[in-house]
Amino acid sequence: MVPVSMPSALTFELLGKCSVTKARAATLHLPHGPVPLPIFMPVATQASLKGLTPDQLEDAGCRLCLNNTYHLGLKPGQATLDAIGGAHKFQSWPHNILTDSGGFQMVSLLKLAKVTEEGVKFLSPHDGTPMLLTPEHSISLQNSIGSDIIMQLDDVIATTSPDLARMREAMERSVRWLDRCIKAHKYPERQNLFCIIQGGLDLDLRKECTIEMVARDTPGIAIGGLSGGEAKDAYCTVVDTCTELLPEKKPRYVMGVGYPEDLVVSVALGADMFDCVWPTRTARFGNAITARGVLNIRNAGYSTEFTPIEEGCQCVCCRSQEDGGLGITRAYIYHVASKETAGAHLLTIHNVHYQLNLMKRVREAIIEDRYPAFLKEFFSKLYDDKS
Ligand code: GUN
Ligand code: ZN
Repeated sequence: MVPVSMPSALTFELLGKCSVTKARAATLHLPHGPVPLPIFMPVATQASLKGLTPDQLEDAGCRLCLNNTYHLGLKPGQATLDAIGGAHKFQSWPHNILTDSGGFQMVSLLKLAKVTEEGVKFLSPHDGTPMLLTPEHSISLQNSIGSDIIMQLDDVIATTSPDLARMREAMERSVRWLDRCIKAHKYPERQNLFCIIQGGLDLDLRKECTIEMVARDTPGIAIGGLSGGEAKDAYCTVVDTCTELLPEKKPRYVMGVGYPEDLVVSVALGADMFDCVWPTRTARFGNAITARGVLNIRNAGYSTEFTPIEEGCQCVCCRSQEDGGLGITRAYIYHVASKETAGAHLLTIHNVHYQLNLMKRVREAIIEDRYPAFLKEFFSKLYDDKS
């Protein structure tokens, strides 16, 4: 194919590289301000992060969050988005937004979705009418949303699928759909289109796909189709194989990854951006993410622990009142967690802070070229001593 040179609405400023692993630290300059890399992006599916207001998300330090094209396209819908001037204004969010293209959500949420060369066919969850999401329609919706990073429509197959022929078809179709997305994209000078590498766990398919995608010269590159229950070593081999073939000066986004241990390992494999609903969803089940693992604050043992969720945590919830925080204790969260929404809000604040602060520490360690020592300490805390 003929390489297409695409305008870009970002600059990637590389700040440092680990001398042992493939970890990188950078600043990604996007239309709504600079974003530190590596980064974890909280997911605000319906233009709202469950459990937080936009200013609480901002106070947590978030400068890039995720919205979903499929959800926003259904509600409020394209006409409303056009009338109000996009999703930033709609949700009063002055910072950056990345939108996923919608197909993945349809296929994973709606069992009735059917993929053809034209696009993804599905029945409207509102009234059951047949609908079709094509690459062109997904891009048109994302143009109306006005997100700083938009994702191509891709054909996603579960990594655990044994059907190699279908895996190849999905990978090749994703490349063809990228070409249609590039053609349909109206605002490349203000919205960055990212391609998505597919190919399941087959390394030859992944390599072939990476080469094809890189030739299209999009401003950033995603690795998709992972985090679907595959073994960790298979996951790592795929990420490692893809990043090996990627240009150094472009951001790399592994989709759907959010467990702290997966984040720090993926960074070592050369990835820069991650998203996942898990940190916010698990908060609503009473779970707190800490350096020593996940604690379920609904367990009766916490009812008399008058200490913060995590000692030394600087989130608004854990920080003492003398230091301008709320000084919330485990005992209080235990008390409200099962019956009040306040417990879910407080745990969401803590978990989002944990994830963002983890990436901040990762970034500092890379810049100071001590990432291997950071990893060692991270894993010894997580696995050695749970006391
Ligand atoms: N979210 C998690 N994985 C994927 C993927 O492979 N494609 C898209 N579009 N979104 C995802
Ligand atoms: Zn906290």
